[in-house]
Amino acid sequence: MTRSKMPDRKKVATANLDSMHRVFTVPEEPSSALARIDQHISENLTGFLQDHIVAVEKDLQEVEQVFSESAIPENPVFVSEQTEFLLDQLVAHSVHTASPSFIGHMTSALPYFMVSLSKIMIALNQNLVKTETSKAFTPLERQVLGMLHRLVYQQDDRFYAKWMHNSNGALGSMCSGGTIANITALWVARNRSLPAEGAFKGVHQSGLHRALKHHGYDDVTVLVSKRGHYSLSKAADLLGIGRDSIKAIPTDNDNRIRVDALEKACEDARHNNTLIMAIVGIAGTTETGNVDPLEQVANIAERYGAYFHVDAAWGGPTLFSHKHRNLLKGIERADSVTIDAHKQLYVPMGTGLVVFKDPEVANAIEHHAQYIIRKGSRDLGSKTLEGSRPGMAMLIHSGLKIIGRSGYEMLIDLGIEKARKFAAMIDAEQDFELISRPELNILTYRYAPRVVQDALPLMAEPERKEANRLLSRLTKSIQKAQRNRGKAFVSRTRLNPYLHHGQDCIVFRVVLANPLTTEEILRDILEEQKKIALEDFLDEYHQSLYALLPEAPKSAVN
Ligand SMILES: Cc1ncc(COP(=O)(O)O)c(C=O)c1O
Repeated sequence: MTRSKMPDRKKVATANLDSMHRVFTVPEEPSSALARIDQHISENLTGFLQDHIVAVEKDLQEVEQVFSESAIPENPVFVSEQTEFLLDQLVAHSVHTASPSFIGHMTSALPYFMVSLSKIMIALNQNLVKTETSKAFTPLERQVLGMLHRLVYQQDDRFYAKWMHNSNGALGSMCSGGTIANITALWVARNRSLPAEGAFKGVHQSGLHRALKHHGYDDVTVLVSKRGHYSLSKAADLLGIGRDSIKAIPTDNDNRIRVDALEKACEDARHNNTLIMAIVGIAGTTETGNVDPLEQVANIAERYGAYFHVDAAWGGPTLFSHKHRNLLKGIERADSVTIDAHKQLYVPMGTGLVVFKDPEVANAIEHHAQYIIRKGSRDLGSKTLEGSRPGMAMLIHSGLKIIGRSGYEMLIDLGIEKARKFAAMIDAEQDFELISRPELNILTYRYAPRVVQDALPLMAEPERKEANRLLSRLTKSIQKAQRNRGKAFVSRTRLNPYLHHGQDCIVFRVVLANPLTTEEILRDILEEQKKIALEDFLDEYHQSLYALLPEAPKSAVN
């Protein structure tokens, strides 16, 4: 760079300091530039959210190109410029998860008030790790944990008066989602089952190897149905017991844990001198939404003295419904229960929690530090896996008050009713086959022309396998084509349903948690899938499929 082109360093630095001060200063006038930007963002977001298209058709690779620069910009840009960039490149290509035709994942629609109220959380930027940085937010979070504890465990007023704000215990532990909630629960389970004793300092201090040796076990296991969420494997990995320690118990025809197989696994563990660190029941499996027979699982956990955790990340809020809460009977006997607030509590992403039946059980994972979370303080950080955390509890609190118990009950009842209706629609279709009947608000089905459905049980195994493979290819292709068109979104997964002799098949997966999803929308989604199935690009699969039949039909779809 020649001398004449060198920037005036002093001038740039002064100018930067001025603008830096400006950036951190709360503007006095409401009509400031930032207020105009706020308005612009609101209008743009409203436009995006009012449009019911799920996603615009744009290749992911093209979007990646927009975000491919690795150099950090040297010079600052105006907020207005960055706003335009975000609106054009980020918002415009985001997925509209609140669209009523987005029925494929557990990412819920948000009640719109959450957007306005979340400003309070961002503006105050409280840190829930310690009361010194959160003050009123700490009691609020404890109250939210108390409310959800009560939803599960139904203790009386005296219990909550004693424990809600008590620094000697915790009714729960708030975190960023179901994964961390499950890890926290298994962390408690591990430390509880390998405690300090005499000169032995406990697994938390001395590690797993010495803990097993001291307590006289050869191995350790966690028992959960094969439908268990993969976060449990992450927990096993992190807690040093290894992923192989998660024993996947077979399920019955309705994707629920087989109690006889669970009992047998417990017997085997006892026989092999293996510690059963935890038995995990699922209330709402991720893929099919089924609920384990929690009462029976609780009986087994009790009989074998095992820690009992329920992963109700999805199905927990079913407890709001008088009509359906019975499905979760036995959950109140669990030592801990995971609930994801960003699922059926309709709170923004990044909010999960685990509640503990015994408020003192979480003392098993308690951590202290001198400058923060001191012993005896009410600091929430002493019993959470994460350190610094935002005040998301404020949004759960707002949901619980603004929607209320009866409102959540309505949302749960609507979702289950809609899932049943959608299942009936699929049953009535010639060329779709229901794979898992909804117990909650999740169901799976696949594309399978009627003639093929009728012929499958009569086929020899190699042909049946090949037919199932082709049906999977078809279902997958239809799902991808529908997703790419962007009007609606249904997800897909791979199951091995009993009705196909446990053979793997790819299925559509539907999650019905948006109150704005109408029956008409569901019908349109099926219609679009039927149309895609008839398109030329799928001819080859159909031909191969029909060639497997004793008498090949002429047309692709009846
Ligand atoms: C049953 C179950 N448990 C745990 C999780 C993990 O939750 P998160 O994605 O919030 O970490 C999920 C997520 O789908 C789930 O369905």
